[in-house]
Amino acid sequence: MAITRNTKNVPYYLLGAGAFDQLESLVDERRRAATGPALFFVDHYFQNKPLAARVPAIAGDRVFFVNTSAEPTVEVVDAFASTAKAFLNGAQPCCVTGIGGGAVLDMAKAVANLLTNPGLAEEYQGWELVKHPAPYKIGVPTLSGTGAECSRTCVLTNMRRKLKLGMNSDFTVYDQLLLDPELTRSVPRDQYFYTGLDTFMHCVESIRGSYRNVIVDSLSRTAIAMSEEIFLGDKDMMDEENLEKMMVASYIGGMAAGNVGIIHPVSAGLSIVLHMPHGIANCYALSVLGEFYPEEHAQFTEMMARQKVSLPKGICKNLTDEQLDGLYQGSIVHEKPLINALGEDFKKILTREKVLSLFANM
Ligand SMILES: [Fe+2]
Repeated sequence: MAITRNTKNVPYYLLGAGAFDQLESLVDERRRAATGPALFFVDHYFQNKPLAARVPAIAGDRVFFVNTSAEPTVEVVDAFASTAKAFLNGAQPCCVTGIGGGAVLDMAKAVANLLTNPGLAEEYQGWELVKHPAPYKIGVPTLSGTGAECSRTCVLTNMRRKLKLGMNSDFTVYDQLLLDPELTRSVPRDQYFYTGLDTFMHCVESIRGSYRNVIVDSLSRTAIAMSEEIFLGDKDMMDEENLEKMMVASYIGGMAAGNVGIIHPVSAGLSIVLHMPHGIANCYALSVLGEFYPEEHAQFTEMMARQKVSLPKGICKNLTDEQLDGLYQGSIVHEKPLINALGEDFKKILTREKVLSLFANM
């Protein structure tokens, strides 16, 4: 087997119910280590909720609430970065903390990269384009499944280039994670399901692809097994034990998530054209990809039935020709994962007609 890429993981994590209380001491440690204020990026869902009052910001710090009703775009990253730079007035923060689901965790990562690297977000969409280390970052997921807490990317939608692509870089990786499963208790059930399944999808795509290594395969198998326990087991998927298991599965699955396959490109098409959130878009994608992932499609169908989640049909009816073209282009543009799944000749399998028939079946 080929030598793996030199791989970086998150160096520190804290895990356990109630761990959020330790955020203050983690941030205080940073205040002692570096000058500059602390910046916090918090999901707007928590604005005026008890969690917002527990964010350990002091005078001189800044809390940014991130609207997560849409996926992060390069424009929003640029806007936050310019506000943060104006606030910092030439200084660097002692740390940047992201508190939220994948969208907020990715937003914090992207903005942090722009604090030390000049220019616009889209200049860094790709692989190894970030040149300077970002400020120290702490990630606090409040939703499990995306793997954003431990990935080396931050997925950003770029409407102009019609693609979803992150800043794939070791500098994007969080320096510290605080994993408190209690924070996910209030997530609505269907959102918990859709987002949780993102872990299953990443790992299925990874293990069915051609870019493989023994470590990623082992992580993928573990996260898939945990997903089966959570979504097909006897206990409720949001039982206390499963909240923790889901948070750990997301973390483990996130480490395996670099090489996706067909599900994520098709999902990206939905997000770009219909602005559909990532987790549910993945579910729609796998729901029509049974011929490529037969076993997993069957498992997924059973998980939906067991958790009483349904996907209303007909979402791509009545679309304009321009939207249909956007669905095709927004999927097929993701060449790296499609080659991973289907080989260099993937366009012979995923013809325009074939891709549009997948969307028509949703
Ligand atoms: Fe994903």
